[in-house]
Amino acid sequence: MVNKPKQHAIWGHRGTFVLAATGSAVGLGNIWKFPYITGENGGGAFVLMYLVFIAMIGVPIMIGEVLLGRRGRANPVNAMAQVSDETGAPRLWNGIGWCAVLAGFLILSYYSVIAGWTLEYVTSALQGEFAGLDGASSTLAFEALLADKNRLIGWQTLFIGLTVLVVAFGVTKGLETAVRLLMPLLFVLLLVLLGYAVVAGDFAAGAEFMFGFNARDLSWEAASIALGHAFFTLSLAMGAIMAYGSYMPGNSSIGTMVLTVAMLDTLVALTAGLAIFPIVFATPGISPSEGAGLMFVSLPIAFGAMPMGVVFGALFFVLVTLAAWSSTISLLEPAVAYLTERFSLKRLTANLLIACSAWFVGLGTVLSFNDWEGITLIGKFNFFGLIDFVTTNLMLPLGGLLMAIFVGWVVRRDILRNELRQESERFFNLWYWVLRYISPLALLIVLLAGLRPLFD
Ligand code: PHE
Repeated sequence: MVNKPKQHAIWGHRGTFVLAATGSAVGLGNIWKFPYITGENGGGAFVLMYLVFIAMIGVPIMIGEVLLGRRGRANPVNAMAQVSDETGAPRLWNGIGWCAVLAGFLILSYYSVIAGWTLEYVTSALQGEFAGLDGASSTLAFEALLADKNRLIGWQTLFIGLTVLVVAFGVTKGLETAVRLLMPLLFVLLLVLLGYAVVAGDFAAGAEFMFGFNARDLSWEAASIALGHAFFTLSLAMGAIMAYGSYMPGNSSIGTMVLTVAMLDTLVALTAGLAIFPIVFATPGISPSEGAGLMFVSLPIAFGAMPMGVVFGALFFVLVTLAAWSSTISLLEPAVAYLTERFSLKRLTANLLIACSAWFVGLGTVLSFNDWEGITLIGKFNFFGLIDFVTTNLMLPLGGLLMAIFVGWVVRRDILRNELRQESERFFNLWYWVLRYISPLALLIVLLAGLRPLFD
């Protein structure tokens, strides 16, 4: 066994990894982002690519990432160093840990801005502002929010504050309780929405859009977005899953847990899409390719029209906020763990340091929806567009590629087999083969193809 840094905790219960990792995975990515990028990229073909990438690339790499964390029993940077040492590989591989922590930080910066929007929508729901909304008025309300910088900054600040609060108290306690209760509740509410979409929306059109395959919609750009999103939604290559894996008891089966998390995550995303698109198709004035506002424009219309919409609407946005919260916690945790374990900073100091910097970088995202909206930095991207593109479509796949090569080709096989000793020989061999041959190759192709928008 490698040395464990003293302060490194282990989850209180066997199932906590699944809960925490699901809390990390299920978030804005599933409910806000997945439907809107599906809408922008043509529907069924995109969904299909996304599902294939989750299965062939996401799951094998997630198993690898958890394994690295648990073997290294430390924050992502130190865990990579531990495993490199143990297997006799150069410490250069630490780069994976660095890239992960950096990507996590950048994502945290914009994620908290969007999560702030959900807070605003909780208050609008409670004030009955959803009543009688139609496509045009809902769009107007959303645009008015985006134009109001101060309000956006206020919510962003509140949201980052909430994240700091939990991470400051340590992950195990607060998170365990929160996730155990909230995730099931969120899912139930999504089912309520789905029921509404079946009854009141154009369900056939929504389902056809999501699952009707049209080869015309296949494109390299869509593939790159689908791949990036597969990483984003599973919280991969950001250190989050590695950090959570490092708290996992040694006798848990990594394979079973990862499969469970990936399935739950996919289920939530598909349900969210199936709830949103029928409403979109039944509402004049909004279209599937609405962009980042899709959820915020379409769902309030549904809540405004349904019985007890005030309660359901408020509850829904509260739950989305909480889902986002359990995700940002896992984004902040790796960097905090690194600073405390490497530089012996106090947990609170490390926390505040990173949160304040993320807040500051996040201001650029706030401005990207108003003052800076039309200012393009590279290609067609403004500030938010660029951070989103660079992190999701470049850093995550690149981190994933390096991780696949490291686990598949560099780490000694006996170490891998030992960490995956709970798995059957067949499962292990299949995983190992896919991770060595399929995942890196597919990743490389899609990654290179995805560079194009930079030069448009
Ligand atoms: N997986 C989260 C989501 O889909 C986002 C996230 C990414 C959270 C990375 C933590 C780490 O919303």
